[in-house]
Amino acid sequence: MTSTSLCSFAFFFHFFAIVLCIPHLTHCLCRNQPIIFNFGDSNSDTGGLVAGLGIPIKLPNGRTFFGRSTGRLCDGRLVIDFLCQSLNTSLLNPYLDSLGSLFSNGANFAIAGSATLPKYVPFALHVQVMQFVRFKDRSAELAAAGVNHFIGYDRFRDGLYTIDIGQNDIADSFAKGLTYVQVVKKIPLMLAEIKNAVQEIYNQGGRKFWVHNTGPLGCLPQKLAFAKNISHDIDSFGCVSSYNTAAKLFNEGLHRICMGLRSEMKDATIVYVDIYAIKLDLIANSTKYGFTSPLMACCGSGRPPYSYDRRVSCGFPGYQVCDQASRFVSWDGVHYTEAANEHIASKILSMDYSTPRVPFGFFCQ
Ligand SMILES: *[C@@H]1O[C@H](CO)[C@@H](O)[C@H](O)[C@H]1NC(C)=O
Ligand SMILES: *[C@@H]1O[C@H](CO)[C@@H](O)[C@H](O)[C@H]1NC(C)=O
Ligand SMILES: *[C@@H]1O[C@H](CO)[C@@H](O)[C@H](O)[C@H]1NC(C)=O
Repeated sequence: MTSTSLCSFAFFFHFFAIVLCIPHLTHCLCRNQPIIFNFGDSNSDTGGLVAGLGIPIKLPNGRTFFGRSTGRLCDGRLVIDFLCQSLNTSLLNPYLDSLGSLFSNGANFAIAGSATLPKYVPFALHVQVMQFVRFKDRSAELAAAGVNHFIGYDRFRDGLYTIDIGQNDIADSFAKGLTYVQVVKKIPLMLAEIKNAVQEIYNQGGRKFWVHNTGPLGCLPQKLAFAKNISHDIDSFGCVSSYNTAAKLFNEGLHRICMGLRSEMKDATIVYVDIYAIKLDLIANSTKYGFTSPLMACCGSGRPPYSYDRRVSCGFPGYQVCDQASRFVSWDGVHYTEAANEHIASKILSMDYSTPRVPFGFFCQ
């Protein structure tokens, strides 16, 4: 490097920031304190259900990383936790957690069990967005009054807004007994809610969005253990074919909605991430990634091949748990293990599944 290229510190700093963000490096640190607001369901709930409704989530949840239950439905960290760690920022506190929470780097509105519909029921996506609006107004008010650690009005524009929802909409529809055709008919209504959420956050000043599509829910041990008439409906991966086909249709629609929003909101960046492909690859090629029995739960009860029985779920009296959760994809029959989440996060950070291909830390550079 010549001395002329070093004479501009600003240039050098910029260059350095880009170098920090090359793909496959999990560390892509921010120049500004990253701010992240997350919306979703149990896949990204970092303790909201426990805080909001008091429903206990007991050990062995949390045993691998935290050594205690944090309200995450997992033995350790979730995908959103690994994404935060990739930026060296602290894990997101649930918005509803009134004890010891700090909201200087954002907040997590995701709650286990949430769906897009029905719209006005706690904690549907629309309710989560309304909670965000309340958070924004209050945080800005406190920051303006000089209270430390609160995000000021002008900083909401720099934040990243992450959304991961839809799995419960599809799952609940099948669980209620709707046929595949009936479920597919409801998909546009679910997607309209995600579109509304992005538009509402945009109207509130948000410009950077990170949208996860929904995973292959037909590969969850719980679904496999329940699905009726299953032998006629199993695909080559051993998953419930109709569930996964519905998830794929949902994802195609979500992809189209993201494209539409990009042309509508020219000054926004909307990244669509193909979580479905990441998870299906993990299940189909589990051995290659160091996992065994991808359709079997580590924690809970019941016999192989799925080891899932709804009567005794993980953490409830009579549950059993595997020794090596790091070899399992499924933690409790519905949620992934920390090891699987780490794998999924590394695939997300690779950008190979993102449209457009931008590093996760793009919003804070
Ligand atoms: C990450 O954060 C920790 C704790 O805040 C700090 O000690 C460390 O230097 C940071 N790492 C980088 C590479 O910025
Ligand atoms: C099971 O599925 C097959 C093929 O979809 C169908 O022909 C059959 O009637 C179903 N059986 C029951 C009991 O629903
Ligand atoms: C499994 O891995 C192979 C080889 O890398 C790849 O071609 C294939 O698409 C993967 N399967 C799935 C379902 O992603």
